[in-house]
This record gives sequence, C-alpha cells and structure tokens, in this order.
Amino acid sequence: MNIKEAILWASNELALICERPVFEAQLLLCHHLNCQKVFLFSNEETDVKNIETFKDIIARRKNSEPYEYIVNSVSFYDIDLFVEQGVLIPRPETELLIDEVSRIIEQEKITTIAEIGIGSGAISIVLARKFPNLKIISTDISKSALEIAKKNIEHFGLKDQIKLIHTNLLDDVEVDFDMIVSNPPYIADDFILDKNVIDFEPKEALFGGVVGDELLKEIIDLAKIKKVKFLACEMGYDQKYPIGEYLKQINVNSVKFYTDLARLDRGFIIKF
Ligand SMILES: C[S@@+](CC[C@H](N)C(=O)[O-])C[C@H]1O[C@@H](n2cnc3c(N)ncnc32)[C@H](O)[C@@H]1O
Repeated sequence: MNIKEAILWASNELALICERPVFEAQLLLCHHLNCQKVFLFSNEETDVKNIETFKDIIARRKNSEPYEYIVNSVSFYDIDLFVEQGVLIPRPETELLIDEVSRIIEQEKITTIAEIGIGSGAISIVLARKFPNLKIISTDISKSALEIAKKNIEHFGLKDQIKLIHTNLLDDVEVDFDMIVSNPPYIADDFILDKNVIDFEPKEALFGGVVGDELLKEIIDLAKIKKVKFLACEMGYDQKYPIGEYLKQINVNSVKFYTDLARLDRGFIIKF
C-alpha cells in the first residue's frame, strides 16, 4: 500500500469515529513514518513501510483510543507533554486556570504554590516555566500520573522548581505555601462519559464523588485550614451555584468565578 492509498484506507476506517478522518489519518501516518506532513504529499506513490503496524495504530484509534495516547503527546499551552494511558490528557480549558493563576502570581508576588493532582504536570510545568522563581509542591494519589509528571518535569529541566509527593490531597506536605492550585476530578460518579474518555482515561482523574463536587469542597476546607492566601480551582460548568452556596458557610475574603471560551462557568479563585 502506498502513502496515498494508506491515507484513503485509514480515513475510511476512521470515518465513523473522527470528526476529521482524513486529517487524523495523515497525522497518524506521519507518526508511523516519523515524518512531516509535507513528506506525505511529495511521496504519494511511496510504499508505506511496516504497513501492519500502521494498521494496528488505526485499529486502536478506530476503537476510540484518544489520539494523544497513540502518539504519546499532547499540545498544551506553549508546550508538548508526554502522555500515556494512566494519566489524564490535559484539556484546553485548563489553560484558562493557568492564566487566572498567573495574574495572581504577578500581582501578589507569590513565590510558593501547591498543586493538588498534578497529572501529567501540565499546570505545574507551565507555571514553573513562566515564573522561574516559583517553587511548587505537587501531589497526586496516582503513582502512574506521578511517573509521567516526573518524566515531563525532567524533560523541561524543572526538577529544582517542582517537588513531587505521592499522597492524598496535601497529606504529609509540611512546607508552607501561599496558594493552592487544583484541577481535581469533579464529575459525578454516574455521569455517562464518551467511550474515548471512560474506556481509556483514569477514573481517579475524572470522578469527584456521588455529586461530583465533593473533592472540590474538601480542597476548599483544606485551603482554609492551611491558611493559604489564595485557592484557584477548575470546576464543572454546573458547579458555580453549589460552590457559591458552600462558600457562604466559610469566611472568605472574596471569590471570583471565571468562564471558559464557550462562556460556561469553569473555575474559581478564592481569596481568604
Ligand atoms: C482532572 S486530573 C488533572 C490533572 C492535571 N492537573 C491536569 O490539569 O491535566 C485530576 C488529578 O488529580 C489526581 N487526584 C485525584 N484525587 C486526588 C487526591 N485525593 N489527592 C491527590 N490527587 C488526586 C488524579 O490522579 C489526577 O491526576
């Protein structure tokens, strides 16, 4: 099978599961051949090497496995991160949390933060790169997530700025910090997710409890106990009201809810 035929075959295979089957077929072929897209157009008649391996890649994608797990990479903010099954694929809306947090770091001259649930390292790594004097303590309950975060942290040479701890929330974290940042699991346990998410992404990164906001509320309580100045969290589009009501029982200085590009409620910043 030559390159032109392989793209046609793969895009037909992917037609039912991808919004842009030709585009993904081309990208996956580039991944298989380790080449740039332009190579495909200038070598349409060239035979595809190891075609069976390419067919396996297409079969995985046809089975709804996320593109990012197949190519072991995700584009996030201004970097590419290594990802594989066992860690959540960072989502574009989390870039907004980084912008919110960055404003506070600049305005309040924050030098120490803690991230709960680092996952692949997306938030901590982008913040550490933006603020070279920032020190970050990052936790996760998932060993696989921490291994992947470590790999990404080392890749970007940030070992001196980001310390990893395998723990629940901030248990065993003794040092002080000015701010907590978290994109915790916040989906209700019975929420029906698409196959590409539920069959492949880690459950502990998705589900926040029976209602969904349980962990968010625990993190709010913890931030109060830890006497931090700020807490910044991502949340679900339908969680502004319950979080707002919860905060009425807690003495906070102020809370700002922010929306995503679709104008959906997406997170909050609490000043204690
Ligand atoms: C939604 S993912 C976010 C990952 C990453 N921060 C991002 O934005 O892409 C939530 C992360 O929190 C971790 N997590 C879940 N419960 C936790 C807990 N009780 N303590 C620490 N981490 C937890 C999960 O393992 C997962 O890596």
